[in-house]
Order: sequence, then C-alpha cells, then structure tokens
Amino acid sequence: MENLKGLKRTHYCGDLRIANVGEEVVLNGWVQKKRNLGGLVFVDLRDVRGISQILFDTNVSEEAFNKAEKLGSEYVVAVKGIVRERQSKNSNMPTGDIEIEATELRVLSKSETPPIYIKDNDNVSEDLRLKYRFLDLRKPSMQNNLILRSKVAKIVRNYLTDNNFVEIETPFLIKPSPEGARDYLVPSRVNPGKFYALPQSPQLFKQLLMVSGMDRYFQIVKCFRDEDLRADRQPEFTQIDCEMSFVDEEDVMGIMEKMLQEIFKEVLDVDVQLPIQRMTYKEAMDRFGSDKPDTRFGLEFINISDIVKECGFGVFANAASDEKGSVRGINVKGGAEAFSKKGMKKLEEHAKLYKAKGLAWIKLTEAGIESPIAKFFSEEEMNAILEKMGAEAGDLLLFIADKNVVVYDALGQLRLEVGRKLDLMDKNKYNLLWVTEFPLFEKDEETGRMIAMHHPFTSPLDEDVEGLTGEDKTNLRAKAYDIVLNGYELGGGSVRISNADIQKKMFDAIGISDEEANDKFGYLLEAFKYGVPPHAGLAYGLDRVAMLMGGCDSIREVIAFPKVKDASCLMCEAPSTVDEKQLEELGVEVSETVLNVSEAKSGNE
Ligand code: AMO
Ligand code: AMP
Repeated sequence: MENLKGLKRTHYCGDLRIANVGEEVVLNGWVQKKRNLGGLVFVDLRDVRGISQILFDTNVSEEAFNKAEKLGSEYVVAVKGIVRERQSKNSNMPTGDIEIEATELRVLSKSETPPIYIKDNDNVSEDLRLKYRFLDLRKPSMQNNLILRSKVAKIVRNYLTDNNFVEIETPFLIKPSPEGARDYLVPSRVNPGKFYALPQSPQLFKQLLMVSGMDRYFQIVKCFRDEDLRADRQPEFTQIDCEMSFVDEEDVMGIMEKMLQEIFKEVLDVDVQLPIQRMTYKEAMDRFGSDKPDTRFGLEFINISDIVKECGFGVFANAASDEKGSVRGINVKGGAEAFSKKGMKKLEEHAKLYKAKGLAWIKLTEAGIESPIAKFFSEEEMNAILEKMGAEAGDLLLFIADKNVVVYDALGQLRLEVGRKLDLMDKNKYNLLWVTEFPLFEKDEETGRMIAMHHPFTSPLDEDVEGLTGEDKTNLRAKAYDIVLNGYELGGGSVRISNADIQKKMFDAIGISDEEANDKFGYLLEAFKYGVPPHAGLAYGLDRVAMLMGGCDSIREVIAFPKVKDASCLMCEAPSTVDEKQLEELGVEVSETVLNVSEAKSGNE
C-alpha cells in the first residue's frame, strides 16, 4: 500500500470551480464511482466536502491509468493532477464545470465491496444502516447533518459565552435524580452494593452552581434516561443546559429566544421574529389539545358541549354533561371530498389508537348533510353545531366526545393526522412558540399520586403559592415554560424555588417526607441554607434542534451512533453480557429469571 509522503492535499474534492482551471492540485478521498471507457478512466472522488471527477488518460500518465483501472468502490486514494474545464459540463454538481486530469495516483487503502451503497435515498433498511454506521455516515446527507449539528453547537458556545455564561462540567456518576424517567444505574466496585445513577439532566448541580455564585452556567451535555424510545427520544441525548441567577422567566425566555434567532439566521438564513409567540398551557390545550401544538396549520378545536348537552345522542350528551368531559370538533375546510369511506374508517382507527371510543363526523355538501349521527339532532341543534363550527358546503366536521384528557389527546392526534394527510405542514415554515404556565402537578397514572409536572424545584406562580396547602391542587400553575417548534418540544425550563418554606410545602404536596427529601437531595437542601440567589433556567434538546433544522424525521439522523428502539447499539452491540469475574467484583448477580428472558429473546432473533 502506498502513503501520502510528499503529496500534500491542496484542496477538498467539493471545492474546485472553473476559477481553478490550470492549477495543479492534490485531492484525497474515496472512490465513489469508476467508469472505464478504454484508454480513459473516469473516477468520481468523494470527501467530506463533495465530489470531483478525475480523468485518467493513458496519454497523460500510463502508470496512473493502469492503477486507476484496478480501483474499486470506496478505495482510498490520493490524486495529483491539473484542473481542466470539462467538455460535457454537469450542472447538477457544484464541481460540474471541471475535472482533474490525473498525473499521479496513490492507492492508500483498498475496500471490500461495501454492504450498503454510499448514496442518499437508497432505501436500505435502517437496521443495516445502523449496523454499518461508519459507512452510512459517509453519505453526504449524514455528513451534512453532523456538520449542521456542530455549527449549532459552535453558535451556542459563542452566544452564551458572549453573554457571560460559564461552561462548567458536572459529574456523570451521581445519586439517583428526581426527574421523571428511570435512571441508568452503575454499580460501584469500591462501595459494594451501592450504585451511581447517570444524570437524567444536571438539574441539581446547575442549581448548586447558582448557590456557588457562578451567576450564569451552561453546558452541552449528555443526559441519560431509561424510557420508552420514540423518533425524538434516545436513551442518551444531548442538552444545551443553562441556568441564570437574579432573573425571572422573562429574562430566561428573552436570552434563550435570542439564541435561537442567531442559530436560525446563521445556519439556515431564516429570520425568527422576536418576541416568539406565547400561549399558556391552558390555551394550547383548549385550541390544539396539546402542550406542544404544531401551529403551522389551523384545524383548531371547537367546543360544542353547550349545544349537545341535551341532544338525543347519548354519547355526546353524557360527555357534554360530565364535569371532566366535553364534545369537541375540528372543521376540515373543504375536506368533505378528501376522505373516502375507507379514509374515514382509517381516521376513526387512528383516533381509537388514542383511546377515543369512536369518531363522529358530518360532511356538508351542496346536496346537504351527510352524517351517521345527524338523526340524533333536532334541526335547531344541527344548525347551532354547523354555525359554531363555521361550516360551509364542502367542509368535513370531526368530533370526539369523552373525558377531556381523551378528547385532547385523540382529537389532537387526529388533527395532526389530517394535517399530514392533507399536506398542511409546510416544511419551510418554522413556527416557534413558548408555552407558559404549565400545571405545577399532574397525577401519576400508576399510583394515583400527585407528582411535579416539571420537577419538584419548579416555582409556583406567585398567586398560586397559597394553593400549595389547599385541597385541590390540580389547577395550580408553575413558572415553567417550554419552547415548541412545529409540534416538537425543543426545550423546557422554569424558575426554581429558592425559598425553604415553599420548597417544604412543595414536597408535602407530592408526599415527600422530610426524611425522603433529605435522603434524595439533602445536599441541595443543605446548600439552600446558606444564601440562595433567585434563579431560573432552561435546557434545549440539541438533538431535536438539529433534527428539525436539518429537516429530518428522527433524531437518529443527527446522532453519529444512535441506539434503536430497545436501547441497543446495532454496531457495537451494547448492551452485552460481561465476565462472571467482573460481576463478582461488583457484587452483582444476574437472576435466573432475567437470564431466561434474555435467552428466549435472543432465541427468537
Ligand atoms: P426536560 O426534561 O424538559 O428538562 O428536557 C429538556 C429537553 O431535552 C430534550 N429531551 C430529549 N431529547 C432526546 N431524547 C430524550 N429522551 C429527551 N428527553 C428530553 C427535549 C427537552 O425539551 N432539567 C430540566 C431543564 C430545566 O428545568 O432547566 C430538563 O431536563 O428537547
Ligand atoms: P354508534 O351509534 O355507536 O354506532 O355511533 C355513531 C357514530 O358515533 C359512529 O360514527 C361512531 O364512531 C361515533 N362515536 C361513537 N362514540 C363516539 C365518541 N365517544 N366520540 C365521537 N364519536 C363517537
């Protein structure tokens, strides 16, 4: 095999233009494609910045030509040659006006036939792509995604350091944290029987840094959560984590939205108008059934409970009369023709995925009303419904009657499904939105207990503090805010509690005893005895920011080595079993039951 000695790269493959014609250049890269036309060999040479066409001509260098004839896909080479204007130009390539007439070729490394094509949109299964991720990452789209992500990180660093934020690392081996997901645990060899947790976020440490007087902190940091994975969730993901002292929510939102504005301008040349639109949680739920509404399109909820309270359709009347229920609809403008019988059935099935018991609909056509539920309503009721829904000929009205939680979720998901089906989500639109005044508490479905919706250090609204000791705490609101982009939660944060009395009431409200509080986060409570500045913060999900800016459907596309649904890595095959000896040292035993389940699983594969 040859080496690079005496042959230094002068340009990247993607950078040469007509202005370079006549220059002698040296390129390094991978062989994308080779065509042999007898006497002439054309090679597309690829590197991180693009592709250049190389021409090997027996009349220019017989030695280079002979070597070029033997090149295979993905061979790594160095080429020296002269930039020439191309006879037949290719306007689809940035370098399409030129080619390099090779005078020297060195083969630096050979390649076996790669198991996947190094080409975008090649329809290879994602599993195969992830198994051979190192090859998958050679694709221009994947390289661009990683470059975009790196650009975002650079702008973030510059912006935050310019604004007096100090970048500080916090530990990965910590005590189990109070956030919502399960912890990843790490056994301690030196302290047998004891475990560290990997941080779900640096929440407590960044608050401690405020107590330490660091004033403004940030970190681009890995977080670990053992939760069910989705397209926008990974077990290890990256936060742009920030905290500030002597501020309120306005300051945090102000500085954080300006950072987004800079990122969008510099990376995509998109202008974000400030201030970013705001909506309370309640309004978001009422209008879109979601705390992260996609506001690129309408189809907003309309509540018709008042009209149908006493109608002849029991399903509607019951839900409308239930204090915790309602009947709400969306008007799919001009949608009467958009969904066939089968299409409607599919919409109903979609709603049922989210626990709706059915999907009621009214089509308003020139010929009149078509609807399986029309028979239940008086003419007056029907007219009132149509009026409230703003219905015109050609419209399709969709309704769900149920408890509010189900209506919000099912109709909200239906709204998104209709939006997707009718292509209402403009890919070139970036609708940013702050959702504010989140509920302080939510009910844990499993235990029925009240839990903190954000985390137990989130401050209630001043006017809701008194309610902490009251009977019904469901309506209490928090100084918590999320930033939402096109239906995704990009980031979230809150003003923290910096008053011991309120903190105690908060713990009482969620049933955490003094003892438990001390055991779990005694170090924070201890620190809070010695002078705490008012503080607040926010964390963006960097993976989600990069995914949405890169126009990707999944955060796996912007993570170099992501995990799949069962949290395993198809490339390095983590997690794996370990030596008995290692387990022994750690004092860890794997139970028979777990082993049986694990064997059964691998037997199925
Ligand atoms: P939160 O839990 O809302 O807040 O997380 C902040 C942001 O992190 C991203 N995110 C994820 N991204 C990918 N995969 C995951 N599993 C995942 N989980 C969260 C989201 C989310 O908006 N300590 C608080 C922040 C604070 O109060 O300052 C926190 O972690 O984009
Ligand atoms: P049924 O009389 O039960 O056949 O229902 C008549 C129509 O109402 C069907 O189109 C059902 O899908 C729909 N439907 C049933 N339950 C609900 C509900 N909870 N919300 C909305 N529509 C419903």
